Amino acid sequence: MMIQRYLGNKSVIADEIVNIIRGLAKPGDLVFDAFSGSLAVSRAVKAAGFRVACNDINHFSWLYARAYLSSSSLPWPNGPLKRLSTKDQCWRALVNELTAPYDSDIPAESRRTDVFDRYTETGRFSAFVSSRGSVGKRRFFSAENGHLIDRALSRIRHWHRSEAIDEQTRCLLGAVLLAAVEKVSNTQGTYHDFPRDIYDPRSLKKIIINPPSDDSFVGPSSEFFGKAQDSLTYAMKVPDHKVLYLDPPYNFRQYTSYYFLLNAFSMHPEIGDLDEFFGNIEFVRGQNMSTDFKSSFCSKGQFIPSLKKIIERSKAEYVILSYFNGRNHWGEFKSDNDVIGRPLIEGLFNSAMFEAGSLECLPVHRMNYQSYGGHKSKSVEEFLFVARKRSVAHVANQRRNSRWIGEVAI
Ligand SMILES: C[S@@+](CC[C@H](N)C(=O)[O-])C[C@H]1O[C@@H](n2cnc3c(N)ncnc32)[C@H](O)[C@@H]1O
Repeated sequence: MMIQRYLGNKSVIADEIVNIIRGLAKPGDLVFDAFSGSLAVSRAVKAAGFRVACNDINHFSWLYARAYLSSSSLPWPNGPLKRLSTKDQCWRALVNELTAPYDSDIPAESRRTDVFDRYTETGRFSAFVSSRGSVGKRRFFSAENGHLIDRALSRIRHWHRSEAIDEQTRCLLGAVLLAAVEKVSNTQGTYHDFPRDIYDPRSLKKIIINPPSDDSFVGPSSEFFGKAQDSLTYAMKVPDHKVLYLDPPYNFRQYTSYYFLLNAFSMHPEIGDLDEFFGNIEFVRGQNMSTDFKSSFCSKGQFIPSLKKIIERSKAEYVILSYFNGRNHWGEFKSDNDVIGRPLIEGLFNSAMFEAGSLECLPVHRMNYQSYGGHKSKSVEEFLFVARKRSVAHVANQRRNSRWIGEVAI
């Protein structure tokens, strides 16, 4: 049901994170997942009985949050089909309808062909020239899947724009479509590129869209979902919360370019002019660069100041930070990272923003995400920093003391 192939996806350690949260918060408390990505952590936190606020710069993370976190059971879908006797039957019928051949249900001008045209080898506009001058045609999908994805996107967009479906139905349909798209994408995980000469056998299979299932909704419903915002801004909008969970990027990779195609499909119903949007795609991969975002967390120099800012801005009682000990801003190898990276983070967590002596640093082991698809995986060490923020009253008091301000400036 979720995006599986996501860099830094914490599904393998989500239970450990939840266990730590259990020690800090009680069921029903609000937990803010400020870099929610695939929602692996948000969904585990919800299933454990906490309310979740979340945000990520990737639009599709909002789509998933709105789809799965805003209710505690599978909702009835609304839409163009007549109501069947069970929710499951209704969802199955609606999902099947997404890729069915057109009859008179969708007006001709709403039947888009952008995915086939731009992202399959047989499409009219899929040619690219790389910065080094090599030429070729984009091959993110087989021709058949390109057509099927076009139909599904066209229908969701038409239903959304004609108000035949409500927002949650739109998001659930989008989410199940993206989960299916991922399984037939001719990529090695991210959409930054595609194999230039071959098709991964997975991508030649016909796309199968599965309806949402009731067990994906366990846990209390929530209402604070940022939509593709910078978390430095969104942090100021989340009300008082017990725990702030931080899982920022630790290297230069900009997620909005790595997952641009999932974002384009996610925001598809909201794009005003699709001709303009798809007519202005760039690079070998074919991204409309208006959807790109340069995160300050992806810059070595801005990482620590940004981390400090988001912690200051959030109204959290406790902060948990995932620290990834693989290749990152401070080095290629664990030893470099431990000498430079970890102490920088420890310095921040030992600063006056936090209660003295409250810091714990817990090592977690996990397999690298590249184990997906049978690649050899390596064990990467990951740390969880946990500390208690000083109360606002305490900090306000301290602020009157000018010496203190000097001490925490980083
Ligand atoms: C390591 S991943 C988080 C993975 C997530 N915990 C999961 O389990 O899938 C880092 C995330 O930070 C997001 N991101 C990077 N900079 C951001 C920013 N300034 N504001 C919001 N999200 C940002 C990326 O899109 C990415 O999803």
